[in-house]
Amino acid sequence: MTRLKNTTFVVDAGDLLWKTGKISKKRLNQQRQKGALILEAYALSGVDAMVPGEADLSLGLDWLAGQAAMHALPYVAANLDCDGFSLPGGRVVERDGVTLGFVGVVGATNGGECTVSAPVPALKSAIAKLGDVDMLVLLSHQDDEADLGLVKALGNVDVVVNGHGRVAMKPPRRLGERAIQVSTGTRGKKLGIVKIDQVLGASGFIVDGLSDRLHAKIKSVKSRIERTKKKVKKDADGASKKRANPRLKRLDGQLKRLQAQVLIDENMRERPRHLLKNRLRGLNDDISDHSKTQALVIAAKAQISGAVVLKADKPARGSNFVGDTACLGCHQEQHGQWKSTPHAYAWSTLQRVGRSGDLDCWSCHVTGAGQPSGPSHPSEVSGLENVGCESCHGPGLAHTQTPMHSNIVRAPSEQTCAGCHDGVQDEGRFDFEAYIKRVTH
Ligand code: HEC
Ligand code: HEC
Ligand code: HEC
Ligand code: HEC
Repeated sequence: MTRLKNTTFVVDAGDLLWKTGKISKKRLNQQRQKGALILEAYALSGVDAMVPGEADLSLGLDWLAGQAAMHALPYVAANLDCDGFSLPGGRVVERDGVTLGFVGVVGATNGGECTVSAPVPALKSAIAKLGDVDMLVLLSHQDDEADLGLVKALGNVDVVVNGHGRVAMKPPRRLGERAIQVSTGTRGKKLGIVKIDQVLGASGFIVDGLSDRLHAKIKSVKSRIERTKKKVKKDADGASKKRANPRLKRLDGQLKRLQAQVLIDENMRERPRHLLKNRLRGLNDDISDHSKTQALVIAAKAQISGAVVLKADKPARGSNFVGDTACLGCHQEQHGQWKSTPHAYAWSTLQRVGRSGDLDCWSCHVTGAGQPSGPSHPSEVSGLENVGCESCHGPGLAHTQTPMHSNIVRAPSEQTCAGCHDGVQDEGRFDFEAYIKRVTH
């Protein structure tokens, strides 16, 4: 059976709205604003099925239920019983003559305040209710290792989309001869695309390029094992052996899993199979923005930053941070040099992009955030906007009152820089040797 149309289904497997199952009171409101933006954008572009994860549930059941109702979001979760947020176990979507069944499952520790029941009976009954479908897709929000047992117990799952695993699955993983498991990793950086050519009467998939990718991976794991063993032989002291053992165990496990994948893969050639291609597409600047979504983003940014109003025009009383102007009188030269660096404009950089009130952004673009008497919220940064003197030299109150060598940090360490130049936000640009020259005065 060949289909001429490219029929697309869109799903999400959870932890879309926040990072973990816990969120501080301070962050809750703003994260809900961001969550509302994400969900509205999903509704706008169309989504066929989604399962909530513990991070989504952490924003509050009533809130999430409200969002789901407002945008008619197609949440499914067979084994989740949430007070005030009723979720069907599954749903069927028919498009261009293709009928897919979607069911959702959540791991025992991933249900937040909801009650999580045993997955197998719950899914069996949800699947029975779907009736005849061309393919069955399981949206799994549990430990990705747990999917194998579940798929075995159910027997009729075709594709598993796991939303709780931390790493992107590249290549996709076989869960027995029928099901394929895929996952896109964290931080919303990638879109997973699974392309299936359905073959009449087939079961299971031939996966494009899988055999080559598995063999390449096996080769690299084997050579890592060899290298580790050689190293242990070379410096045969107890310490390096101790370090190497868990590594060898891990690599060995990885090797066994890959070899098992090859075995299944080789068995797949006989009967008729569907064809599957899997790709992870980076969501980079080379994908143009969707204009309606972009409009929502601009409105949300304005709302988020507009909601944060700076209190007072100097650091709070009781703070040990005094701000750069307090150093100007005695250290004009250093102040002048500092003014010529991007640190002196870090706050306006955030303002320019409309993110100065954003709790994911402000702390590295100001002075003293997260330190005992520093600001703990963007509304408290008055006088401490920008990466000021005290970001590197430490709080300066005592020193400005009685200037001494002993009450101020002379030379900041690399670790001080790394608090902000953390390799993630700056995409690995930081190079201490090169950077330190540009800030020394
Ligand atoms: C009232 C004048 C005055 C103010 C205000 C002042 N300093 Fe100083 N600072 C001094 C003097 C004087 C020294 C040299 C101390 C000495 O020689 O004992 C010094 C030394 C330093 C040193 C070098 C320390 C060392 O061990 O060599 C640093 C760094 C420093 N100040 C940073 C700052 C910062 C940051 C601020 C603002 C928070 C600031 N100072 C505010 C007068 C001042
Ligand atoms: C409190 C956070 C913070 C600390 C601490 C910090 N930086 Fe920065 N740094 C920033 C931010 C934010 C920018 C970007 C400012 C902008 O462009 O608006 C930046 C920019 C820079 C730049 C310019 C990069 C470029 O190419 O434009 C250099 C160089 C730099 N930092 C060096 C250092 C060094 C060296 C240290 C440690 C001694 C340090 N920084 C400590 C936050 C920090
Ligand atoms: C962990 C600390 C940290 C956080 C959090 C942070 N930044 Fe920065 N930001 C930096 C550093 C460090 C630089 C300078 C990087 C460089 O050029 O080497 C920078 C540079 C920038 C720049 C100027 C250079 C560029 O890359 O375009 C912009 C704009 C910016 N940040 C925006 C943001 C926004 C928006 C957020 C929130 C989503 C944010 N930052 C959160 C540390 C941080
Ligand atoms: C990004 C980090 C950074 C920031 C921000 C920063 N400094 Fe420094 N500062 C340094 C470094 C690095 C040195 C050199 C330390 C050394 O190796 O002796 C230094 C040295 C100094 C010294 C001692 C100078 C000397 O010649 O003995 C003073 C005083 C000083 N800074 C004042 C300031 C003041 C005032 C500001 C804010 C206007 C400021 N610093 C901002 C990193 C910073």
